[in-house]
Amino acid sequence: GAIPIAVNDPILPYAPGSAERKALREALTKVESTCKDIPIIVGGEEIRNDNVKYQVSPYNHSQKIAKYYWADKDLLTKAADAAVAAQHEWEHRPLRDRVQIFLKAAEMIKGPKRADICATTMAGQAKNVIQAEIDAACELIDFFTFNAQSALELETSQPLSPDVGITNRIFYRGREGFVAAISPFNFTAIGGNLAGTPAMMGNPTLWKPSDTAILSNYLVYEILRECGLPDNIIQFVPADGPVFGEAICEHPYLSMVNFTGSVKTFQHLNMEVSKNLPLFKTFPAMIGECGGKNYHFVHNSADVRHVAVGTIRSAFEYSGQKCSACSRAYFPASRWAEIRENLLSIHSQLKMGTVDDFSIFMSAVIDEASFNRVSGYIDAAKADPNCEIIAGGGYDKSKGFFVEPTIILTNDPKCLTMQEEIFGPVLTVYVYEDDKMDETIEIMKDTSIYALTGAIYCEKESLVQELTMKLRQTAGNFYINDKSTGSVVGQQWFGGAAKSGTNDKAGGPLYTSRFVSPQAIKRTH
Ligand code: ALA
Repeated sequence: GAIPIAVNDPILPYAPGSAERKALREALTKVESTCKDIPIIVGGEEIRNDNVKYQVSPYNHSQKIAKYYWADKDLLTKAADAAVAAQHEWEHRPLRDRVQIFLKAAEMIKGPKRADICATTMAGQAKNVIQAEIDAACELIDFFTFNAQSALELETSQPLSPDVGITNRIFYRGREGFVAAISPFNFTAIGGNLAGTPAMMGNPTLWKPSDTAILSNYLVYEILRECGLPDNIIQFVPADGPVFGEAICEHPYLSMVNFTGSVKTFQHLNMEVSKNLPLFKTFPAMIGECGGKNYHFVHNSADVRHVAVGTIRSAFEYSGQKCSACSRAYFPASRWAEIRENLLSIHSQLKMGTVDDFSIFMSAVIDEASFNRVSGYIDAAKADPNCEIIAGGGYDKSKGFFVEPTIILTNDPKCLTMQEEIFGPVLTVYVYEDDKMDETIEIMKDTSIYALTGAIYCEKESLVQELTMKLRQTAGNFYINDKSTGSVVGQQWFGGAAKSGTNDKAGGPLYTSRFVSPQAIKRTH
């Protein structure tokens, strides 16, 4: 049959009076007033133990929305054993049947489950309406449908059979063993992609969701089950990070780690896997997406209003908790007065609050550790004589983990907040002398270990080319006259280089191929 061609799911506007707004309001009210019990799932069985945890809304300490359990090492090992035992049957199921589960799930998320998946993402991960919509609805739907298409296209790419009497064929097996998917809190879609795509491609998967995204991630799991995902193909196993790491790195059938999170954790997992190489049946593959210190570099030919809007959105949408968020900006002195005025005027209109207020721009940061880290960086800037806070700077955890969108102006392009990933609503700005552009670019290139996203704003065409070449190694996703966030599946394949990760480009057609171990079969007749 023909391969279904994926198209990006359109973003719903949630206009006042619209049916989708009403449905979302109802779903959110329900999610906010319920504490859902979320079992560990191994082999399709619900397991509850004494290691009880709660997910609490980041913006309201008194709102428990989920009760869940951490799997211990024995259970994780059992889950991996069961996954391995299920592989043979699963990878021999026609790809079309496997893909169908995900296409069906995409349809459900598009329609009847849309309000629920957005509401769980809002209440659990503190996203406003639009941020939940572009993540938990649009991007997740797109991951499933675009990966379905590229999986089927991969299967139809078959080698030549030049002579009569010879047939050459590739069987796109899964990798031998199980995949460990470790997903972050900041995108519900990333959880679905990290666990779902290996499964689609024939790999039973152990999914360790982030504790702070458990409710929305469990709903993704439930939807996949409802759409026909068999027992043992995705084991839903919340667990303590180090315990999970130990369990998978000591299992001989670990075939791959599919990870999004911190550099430190990914380095640790790589070292543990290396240390145990003799134990494994294969060489486990490592996919990691590990953050960034993303920049906006602005030339004096740029459109100032456009720069200000893009920079505020990139730095502060979802409280700066996108790995692609702009966290350092370089502005030319000759335009600084205008840029500053625009930044401050937009900043003064940013509304922060709880997610049941559909008019907020942003809500709280994800948890206490995040609040402490981000406020610590703000304090460091307050204490640094080279830094001045020109907007925001406040934080308050009395009701929820609220941190104001904060702009730091520095005259030291290598100060602490110019260098380290903050993962919160903090932007540091450096103003360069127009005739020192080249030196500034060299400093900028030299300031971070990451290479995830970056943007230049420049209306001078010859310079655009030059800067693009100069900045080649600084970003896996590079934007010209656009902000550094908001990559779209199928359009801007996403992933960074250097310490930002292995650059396997989620949302692109290469991604599915990472999860297969092709077998070439020659047959003579
Ligand atoms: N893919 C997300 C973005 O580009 C992280 O903002």
